[in-house]
Amino acid sequence: MNYLDQIDQHNVPKHVAIIMDGNGRWAKSQGKERIFGHFNGVEAVRASLKAATRAGVKYLTLYAFSLENWNRPKEEVDALMNLLVHTIMSEIDELDKNGVRLQTIGNIENLPLSCRAELEKGMERTKHHTTINLILALSYSARWEINQALRQIVASGISENEITDELISKHLTTAAFPDPELLIRTSGERRLSNFLLWQIAYAELYFTETLWPDFNEEDFYKAICDYQQRERRFGKTSEQLVSTDINSTTDTKL
Ligand code: FPP
Repeated sequence: MNYLDQIDQHNVPKHVAIIMDGNGRWAKSQGKERIFGHFNGVEAVRASLKAATRAGVKYLTLYAFSLENWNRPKEEVDALMNLLVHTIMSEIDELDKNGVRLQTIGNIENLPLSCRAELEKGMERTKHHTTINLILALSYSARWEINQALRQIVASGISENEITDELISKHLTTAAFPDPELLIRTSGERRLSNFLLWQIAYAELYFTETLWPDFNEEDFYKAICDYQQRERRFGKTSEQLVSTDINSTTDTKL
């Protein structure tokens, strides 16, 4: 089955977020150390970015390192940080050539200096690109993000009745991006793991048994095709949807 040809170009999600999971289990299945899985996960990152670009997705957010991941063994954390630096260094020409704008969300200040420097260089170099935004969630946690948004709002001295959903969204690290319409998680787990909890209020969730290093372009297209089979109702009845724009989330009171 060629899933790319099945995609309806008029209904491609603008923003796809992915929880890349299963690197450790993939490595174990090959009798290797966990980090071997992370190394091979980079190929799946490449494939997903290529597929997202070809499908016409405008924002691809990848959960590359959660705030909770700092609790992993030091060797694994160090290896992941090195992998991040080396991947950006080796891929940046390709990203630049393909019109990819590199961005980040999360508590970036926690990252080692070498990592931050490479990310900042990459973001600066690609900041004018518009083909697709590749957003790396690093040292990210949704509860941390909502917590810091509330702190900013309280500190700004705003009055109670000025607090709207839009205002809260503006204080999240995703303020510049639309909410994802599709969230993919690999490896058979069916959890959100503290990822984009506010932003995925209306997202479609897609779970696949495939372990992240095995996730390829076709798998990405398959997820989009699955998304396109869903009826997105935003709390409305099917009859109401016939007479309204199904992609509008502005009226969520119904
Ligand atoms: C989850 O698998 C994966 C991670 C915590 C790291 C993801 C990192 C990469 C795919 C490589 C680098 C990424 C970029 C953007 C350069 P896991 O270790 O939790 O797997 P398990 O559940 O099988 O143990």
